[in-house]
Amino acid sequence: MTISPRAPAGNLRVVGLGPGPEAWLTPEASAVLAEATDLIGYAPYLDRLPPRPGQTRHASDNRVELERARHALRLAEEGRRVAVASGGDPGVFAMAAAVFEAIDRGKPAWREIDIAICPGVSAMQAAAARVGAPLGHDFCAISLSDNLKPWAVVERRLNAAAIGDFVIALYNPASKARPHQIHDAFALLRRSKAPETPVIFARAIGRADEKITITTLAAAEPGLADMSTLVMIGSSETRLIARAGAQPFVYTPRDARASA
Ligand SMILES: C[S@@+](CC[C@H](N)C(=O)[O-])C[C@H]1O[C@@H](n2cnc3c(N)ncnc32)[C@H](O)[C@@H]1O
Repeated sequence: MTISPRAPAGNLRVVGLGPGPEAWLTPEASAVLAEATDLIGYAPYLDRLPPRPGQTRHASDNRVELERARHALRLAEEGRRVAVASGGDPGVFAMAAAVFEAIDRGKPAWREIDIAICPGVSAMQAAAARVGAPLGHDFCAISLSDNLKPWAVVERRLNAAAIGDFVIALYNPASKARPHQIHDAFALLRRSKAPETPVIFARAIGRADEKITITTLAAAEPGLADMSTLVMIGSSETRLIARAGAQPFVYTPRDARASA
């Protein structure tokens, strides 16, 4: 009987880097990144990680998530310990879903690979922490990118979120290719939400160029948002606590019985 040599067991970890500073990287994520033989990710995310001897980096461009996921699966299949680096939380508009899309449509053998997702701090959590507790009651997250969904779907979800009186976290609010969508989103929300609704523009949270703007729906300048910004629009319950000489706190109380 001949026994064919088996490939060494590889694994694949999809690792959340958090929104920026190392202090927001979980100990689990740090350990997985240190032990990986191969790091895969969008180049600016890999640039945030220190070089380690013996570790191979596979940097790729934006918008090639599915190909990046397949590359990671092929390496894990060959016996490598692969870490796919993803900004924020890998399960929120990020690489974890791309990996599962690749598995769903790919080789049956990929379903046997040892795969785990290492969570991270998402941009909406970091932004919320900077201003107080705006996500203290029911909220939803919507990506404004129409790369993978029609704009009509975005509009339907924005309307539903406004009717449901959710706090709304807007990811991917604008890019150079689609600067107008955040303006359209604000025009839509202004039709049904109160003008005094608190709005937060949280830009580059946790990075050197961090900038936070707290305003109202009526006064908000949608052009403040770029691809590094998380926009938050309050519910009817979201309120400010004014402070002398300091940024106000923004929070959404846990008790929504008055809005029943
Ligand atoms: C492709 S999504 C990735 C989200 C990421 N997986 C997360 O959990 O935060 C990219 C969007 O996340 C938001 N974002 C990511 N990092 C941010 C930061 N440091 N400050 C503010 N917004 C951020 C922006 O809306 C950006 O356009």
